[in-house]
Formats: sequence, C-alpha cells, structure tokens
Amino acid sequence: MFEIVNARELTNNIYLMDVKAPRVAKSCEPGQFVIVIMDETGERVPLTICDYDRKAGTVTIVFQTIGASTQMMAKLKKGDSFKDFVGPLGCASELIEEDIESLKNKKILFVAGGVGTAPVYPQVKWLKEHGIDADVIVGAKTKDMLILEDEMRKAAGNLYITTDDGSYERKGMVTEVIKDLVQNQGIKYDCCIAIGPMIMMKFVCLLTKELDLPTIVSLNPIMVDGTGMCGACRVTVGDEVKFACVDGPEFDGHLVNFDEAMKRQQMYKSEEGREILKLQE
Ligand code: NAD
Ligand code: FES
Repeated sequence: MFEIVNARELTNNIYLMDVKAPRVAKSCEPGQFVIVIMDETGERVPLTICDYDRKAGTVTIVFQTIGASTQMMAKLKKGDSFKDFVGPLGCASELIEEDIESLKNKKILFVAGGVGTAPVYPQVKWLKEHGIDADVIVGAKTKDMLILEDEMRKAAGNLYITTDDGSYERKGMVTEVIKDLVQNQGIKYDCCIAIGPMIMMKFVCLLTKELDLPTIVSLNPIMVDGTGMCGACRVTVGDEVKFACVDGPEFDGHLVNFDEAMKRQQMYKSEEGREILKLQE
C-alpha cells in the first residue's frame, strides 16, 4: 500500500497528492510517469510525475477529476492509501539527458497549459537546481484555474501567465505569448517544451514550426492503461508508429500527427469506437 502523506485541492477539480513511494522517488526523473490504482477493482490511471522528494521518499501527483476513477481518487485524504503506485515509467525528459554545460548555452522556453503545468514544473525546477533559468509561459482558462503559480515563480527565469478570459495578467492563449516573445520582442529560443491539452500542443507546434523553433511535446493525455498493451496511445511520429507510454511520453512535436492521435483518443472513449479500431489494426 502507498500512503498519501499530503492531499489538497489546488483549484476546482484539480488535486495534488504527495504519496509515500520511496522506490519510485529514488529513481524517477522529470518527464516520467506513474500508474496509480486505487483498489482491487480500480482502473489504471497514468499520471505524469509533478515533483519528488528523494529524502522523504515521496512522489507528487496532480490530477483533474475527469472520470469515475479520478473522482474516487479525489475523495482520498491524508492517511489513506493507493493499492498500487507503479513507476517510474516512460523515458525521462530529453532535456535532462543532455550535457549540463551545453544546456547552459541554450535559451529554453516551456509552454504549460492548464493541468499540464504540473508536469512542466519538475523540469523547470530541475533546470533551476542546475543553474539554468528557463522562460515559462503558463496558460489557464481563468485566474481560478491557475495552478502552482508560487512554485513556478520560484523555479522559472521569466514567468508569463496568460488567461483565456483576461481575468489575470495577460489575456489570450499561450500561442499569442509565444508570438509576442519571438516575433515582437525578438527573443531567440533554441528549444520549446509544450505540455498541456492535445489541442494546445497541436497549435503550439503549428506556430513553432513556422518560427523554426524545435518543440517537444508530452503525449500523456492519450494514454489509457500505460502498459503498451491496450493500443490507445498509438501515434504516428514522422513515418514511424510509436506508443506514447512505451516510446514516450515526449516526442518531437513537429513530427506528431495530432489530428490522428486526437481522433483515436475520441474513438477510444466508446466501446463501439474501440471495436472499430480493433478491426482497423
Ligand atoms: P485548458 O483547456 O484550460 O487549456 C489550457 C491552456 O491551453 C489555455 O489556457 C490556452 O492558453 C491553451 N490552449 C487551449 N486550446 C488552445 C488552442 N486551440 N490554441 C492555443 N492554445 C490553446 O486546459 P485543461 O482543461 O487544464 O486541460 C486538461 C487537459 O490537459 C486534459 O486533456 C489532460 O489530458 C491534459 N494534460 C496533459 C498533460 C500532458 O502531459 N500533456 C498532463 C496533464 C494534463
Ligand atoms: Fe495503452 Fe499505451 S496506454 S498502449
């Protein structure tokens, strides 16, 4: 059993939990994910790691209540436990595999959308701990939906917050901030890491392709069981077929076929859609 040592609601329907899982905490790296199972009958829920404390042996997860499993998870309190907490899974972020000295010469831009702010945070924090200040754009629907603002302020070099409705800081979507920084202010970035809803990553990639800015995305949203078995996370990257949970979750965003992945994601939600997918494979 994996004890929840801290649980709090960050904002409406978005929850943060620190879970005692010393073996995962010891070896996990930014970019990887875990699979959480509540109880004997519980579904497997893949979640990108938001933070970890190797000393305390805890791993932080952030999730939004979108289905029955996450709604049940949200009811758990400090002192309750998960039946399983499997990980770390997937590949670590490409950035942290790079040589620190070469990273120090790079200007890095993170683009975080909504709940995607959670998986962006450990990467920005890791860079800060290694003496690298990255620029971070965080987009949220409204001020109330913004998460991890204080944490991100401490970890980011420059933090640009934008809300779709203009209720806080800038008004507009993350793509407008990218245009402002690159086209109006003339900032030259070497790479961009965009994590958020699929539609956001698609439009960020369309823009950064035009701007000739290499972009990495995290395809956690299309995962279902996270084991390489269900086939839900199949995605075409360039001319190759990949599984987000085994080969990713991070990929070169300019090579990802987002339309196909989003269509597949929609079909996978219904039993009929899953049958059609099986027949096609
Ligand atoms: P959201 O719908 O509030 O969007 C967040 C921001 O993304 C918006 O404020 C906007 O700035 C930007 N955005 C959205 N649509 C855009 C578009 N068409 N063009 C340009 N920018 C756009 O986000 P949310 O409700 O928090 O998203 C939840 C989704 O995030 C879920 O589907 C979940 O699966 C996904 N998610 C992804 C990851 C990941 O690893 N990629 C991790 C956690 C959650
Ligand atoms: Fe099922 Fe990747 S999530 S195969």
